[in-house]
Amino acid sequence: MNKRFWCLLCGIPFALIAALAMLTVMRPAQAQDASELTAQTPPPNAIWLGSLDLSKMTQGWGKSTADKSVGGNPITLNGVVYPHGVGTHAVSNFDVNLKGVAVKFVSMVGVDDEKKGMGSVDFRVWVDDKKVADSGVMHGGDPAKLISVNLTGAKMMRLEVTDANDGIDSDHADWAGAMIFLEPGATVKPVAVDWVDDSPMPVIADCTNPPAKPEIHGPRITGATPGRPFLFMVPVTGREPLTFHASGLPAGLKINPHTGIITGALKASGVHVATIIVHGPAGTAKRDLTIVGGIHKLALTPPLGWNSWNVWAGAVDDANVRSSALAMVKSGLAAHGFQYINIDDTWEDGRDAQGFIQSNKKFPSMTALADYVHSLGLKLGIYSSPGPKTCGGYEGSYQHEQQDADTYAKWGIDYLKYDWCSYGGIAKNNSLPELQKPYKLMRSCLDKVDRDIVFSFCQYGMGDVWKWGAQCGGNLWRCTGDINDSWGSMASNGFSQSDHYMYAGPGHWNDPDMLVVGYVGWGNPHKTHLSYNEQVTHISLWSMIAAPLLLGCDMSKLDKFTLDLLCNDDVLDVDQDPMGKAGHRYWQHNTIQMWARPLWDGTMAVALFNTGEEPHKGSVLWSDLGLKGKQLVRNLWLKKNLGYFAGGFSAEVPPHGTVLIKVGKPKNIKAYIPPKNED
Ligand code: GAL
Repeated sequence: MNKRFWCLLCGIPFALIAALAMLTVMRPAQAQDASELTAQTPPPNAIWLGSLDLSKMTQGWGKSTADKSVGGNPITLNGVVYPHGVGTHAVSNFDVNLKGVAVKFVSMVGVDDEKKGMGSVDFRVWVDDKKVADSGVMHGGDPAKLISVNLTGAKMMRLEVTDANDGIDSDHADWAGAMIFLEPGATVKPVAVDWVDDSPMPVIADCTNPPAKPEIHGPRITGATPGRPFLFMVPVTGREPLTFHASGLPAGLKINPHTGIITGALKASGVHVATIIVHGPAGTAKRDLTIVGGIHKLALTPPLGWNSWNVWAGAVDDANVRSSALAMVKSGLAAHGFQYINIDDTWEDGRDAQGFIQSNKKFPSMTALADYVHSLGLKLGIYSSPGPKTCGGYEGSYQHEQQDADTYAKWGIDYLKYDWCSYGGIAKNNSLPELQKPYKLMRSCLDKVDRDIVFSFCQYGMGDVWKWGAQCGGNLWRCTGDINDSWGSMASNGFSQSDHYMYAGPGHWNDPDMLVVGYVGWGNPHKTHLSYNEQVTHISLWSMIAAPLLLGCDMSKLDKFTLDLLCNDDVLDVDQDPMGKAGHRYWQHNTIQMWARPLWDGTMAVALFNTGEEPHKGSVLWSDLGLKGKQLVRNLWLKKNLGYFAGGFSAEVPPHGTVLIKVGKPKNIKAYIPPKNED
């Protein structure tokens, strides 16, 4: 801003300025305003927004840097270049403690020209919890708008960019020329602060104090290849000591009476129903477990577990994998079915003289690590790329595929995430045969080893992978780019899966990426930036999709709310439903979406999602679901039957929140028997 603009305001009597400033200025930019905000240096007593700690800014994609668009270009709106400002990406939040010294915030706003007319966002400014400015929906190419907000006496300011309720695609948002004016002589400066969820915490059932009477949880079906090592820990809660028995276990398997870990190797193919019995001081639990023997019978329900990337990224090592595995058991999550402990990128070293992959010094012995993880009843996963290098630049499997599969089997690996990365430089083009080739190749290599290894494709959805992932032998496939802990990222990854539901099923699942609840942060963990309601939506949505639930958080920092989110068996049972029919969106009215999925016990899981910023009433009619008469409704997050309802069910859905119910009276079926073509 140059002196002329500054003096324009200075020349007006104080009372009038105050009155004007109370009214947020929000208007299309005039050429003059735009030019005023394009100065190289701020006026006296003003600081650029970009001089604050921008690592505190949360956003749906990329990273905000001072004086650059999120795409790394000079900040440009309608052809005007702003030397200063902050380029971000919807959905974005930035909280500033004004230290009582700020008097005004001024910025031009709009979608950066680098998106060439695409993108749609809404800029908002909140001061001490009151919305004081709202740009309204702005599309790429719209004239930039000027925001000017009075901050006199204010404590906190939040700068927010929403996705205008249409997903975050191309939402490159600029706070162009943004600056904060301070009181003359101010001796302190405003500081950016961590985002704190001050929204009301939704009430969800307490799952961390399970009943003393034993209860069996987790998948009702599991599968393995005859002759290969079998491992399944029966997930159980209840007062200890517990003792385990199983009747009808197929030949080759035995259960450890003290740990409930079933080991051995199936002798034959076929469907077997075993009855698991658990005794404890407070009673007995009994549940059937269907065990399917055959080729390609893995991941009959979506994998539940943990992966190192979203929390540790390159800082993963043997010690934090071991402690995560132990925490999986100690936190009680293993007792609800979580069983995979997956190492992501950065474990790899080079190859030995014979071409065998070596782990680097962070992982002194993969075999010892696998033995440890297995001793806890859990399974170990690993990561590689079909290209010469992984996404992190480590050794990939290119031209060593069979050697790597053999090595994984020798180490005792149970799960492989295979990430496209540098294979982009090997593939001749983006045709389906080229996209499929490296996955088919690794599939054939895994088929030759003497160990069951779940195969996870990671190629971000290229070539509509959901349409062919199963034919190419994938047990799950990433359908999206990388998730982060923002509403925009989580919601766009999750809600975009509705059209893919028919491709999911036992042994082959759509994967909208790992979870971002708890302490996450890619090597720099912080409390998730998802609000409480957004976290409820995250777990509800992933469960409706029948997505893998792979935690990506610091397992030593699981707070009560996060644990209650993750060990709710009613919700996990939706995700792990043995019939494996994924849910999809039935309708969307304004900001409410209704998704449903049929469950094996004859009931339906129904989610009412609110993608809006205000609470809204959501109503599902039984006719939407093809149902008639009175239906039993159970609130799954509360684990509570609400009674019988005629016609339908309505509830208020909090902003970005979810009401998740089960509709219908469950049929009393003991064991799930897969249809013939699936066994
Ligand atoms: C990305 C992948 C992430 C993580 C990362 C490791 O391509 O989507 O989930 O695995 O590579 O470098």
